[in-house]
Parts: sequence; C-alpha cells; structure tokens
Amino acid sequence: MNNDQRCAMEMPEEYAKTNLLSRRDGQDIIEEFSSELSKVQGKCLDIGSGPGNITKDFLFPVLPHDIELVGADISQVMVNYARKNNSNERLSYIILDIEGKMPSEQIGQYDCVTSFYCLHWIYDLSRAFENIFKLLRPNGKALVTFFGFHGMFEAFIRLSQNPRYEFYLQDVHRYVPYFQREKSKNMRASLRKMLEDIGFEILHCSKREKSFQYNSQQNLKIQILPVNPF
Ligand SMILES: C[S@@+](CC[C@H](N)C(=O)[O-])C[C@H]1O[C@@H](n2cnc3c(N)ncnc32)[C@H](O)[C@@H]1O
Repeated sequence: MNNDQRCAMEMPEEYAKTNLLSRRDGQDIIEEFSSELSKVQGKCLDIGSGPGNITKDFLFPVLPHDIELVGADISQVMVNYARKNNSNERLSYIILDIEGKMPSEQIGQYDCVTSFYCLHWIYDLSRAFENIFKLLRPNGKALVTFFGFHGMFEAFIRLSQNPRYEFYLQDVHRYVPYFQREKSKNMRASLRKMLEDIGFEILHCSKREKSFQYNSQQNLKIQILPVNPF
C-alpha cells in the first residue's frame, strides 16, 4: 500500500467502531507487558496506530505520566481521524511509512516503539524491523504484535483464483503476511533470526494461536470490511 492508494482499510470511523478483535488483543498484550511499559521513560512511538483508539485507550494509560506518545500511520485519513478524536497534550500523530526511508529527524528519537496488528501489512518485514531499530535510541525497547498467519488471507488467495473475482485481487500476494507468504515452517525461529541479524536482543518472542468468534455473518462482514484491502 502507498499513500496514493485509497482502500477500504482507510475507513477510520468504521474501523474504530468495529475493531473488536484488535481491541481485545491490543488490550491483552498491553496488560501483559504493563509492568515493562510503565517503566519506559522519554518518548514512545506506536506504529500503525490507525484511528488511535488502542493507542489512547490502552497504551497511553499504562505509560508513565510524563511520557510523550506519538502514533504513526501511513494513512493520512487515519492520522486525521486520530488527531481529531484520540489526541491530547502528550499524545500526537504523524504520517510515517514504516517500510519506507525513515525521516532523519525521527532516527534515534524513541525510547520505546510499539506496534499492534500492523506489521502483517508490510511486504518487506525485515526492512520494517530495520527501521524500528533505527527509530530507537540505544537500549530502547520494542513491543510488537502482528499476524503470522490468518485465515482471511487464505480466503483472499482462494478468491483471487476464482475467474469471477481475480480482476479485483491481482496483487493479492502484496497483502499476505510475510510468514504466511513464505510458508515458514518455524515462524518463531525465522523471526528471531531476522531480529538478531538486525541487532535486536530478544527479551521475549512467542507465537500464539488465537480465535475470535463473530456472532453472526453480518457482524463478520461489518468487522472485515474496514480491513479489507481490495
Ligand atoms: C489493522 S490497523 C491496526 C490499528 C491499531 N493499531 C489497532 O490495533 O487497532 C493497521 C494499521 O496499519 C497501518 N499501516 C499499514 N501499512 C503501514 C505502513 N507501511 N506504515 C505505517 N502504518 C501502516 C494502516 O494504515 C492501519 O491503520
């Protein structure tokens, strides 16, 4: 995805109302690492902050009271919505493509980088982690969660093979998460190696199987639409 491509994912209001799965899992992971997050000092960056509701509702409250938190997203529409609805004097938003070239004024600025359910949209995952490494100050910490595999992307691949829909999904592989595309046998080992090669010291790395129940087909449709890139 680049800044010129508008897609269904750029539906901040709809996404903020329907992102029950990412709210549940974002809250869960922030709660699990709240002790570490509460000790962060200085400046924190949340990558792929989208409409900013997870950033404001769950991340901001566990960070120390004097911290400066910045949400970052590739989408201008998402950033505009987040600035209007989920900012305060210590929480602001910037446009940033974590797969692109990092602006020099951002390099080495952050004591902590977080990212919740964004990095599966990145084609070159290693480049995104290199960028996260660049954004961090020495001894800075990162906490990221993303999909290694999700059935939704298998459904997109199946649809792309159907003559009726193939026209709409020509670039389907661009949107399949890195490890799902690579068909990694051992995602955790591959991720550890990728991170260590970049220079990260790994404090925790886990692969978790999660499920989410949509209580009706209509609800499934409502919640998938804002994250459907096609
Ligand atoms: C599924 S939303 C997650 C939003 C929020 N973190 C949450 O957990 O609800 C993914 C966000 O990542 C953003 N995104 C996708 N590619 C990106 C990139 N290359 N750089 C920064 N943000 C990106 C999208 O615009 C979208 O807002």
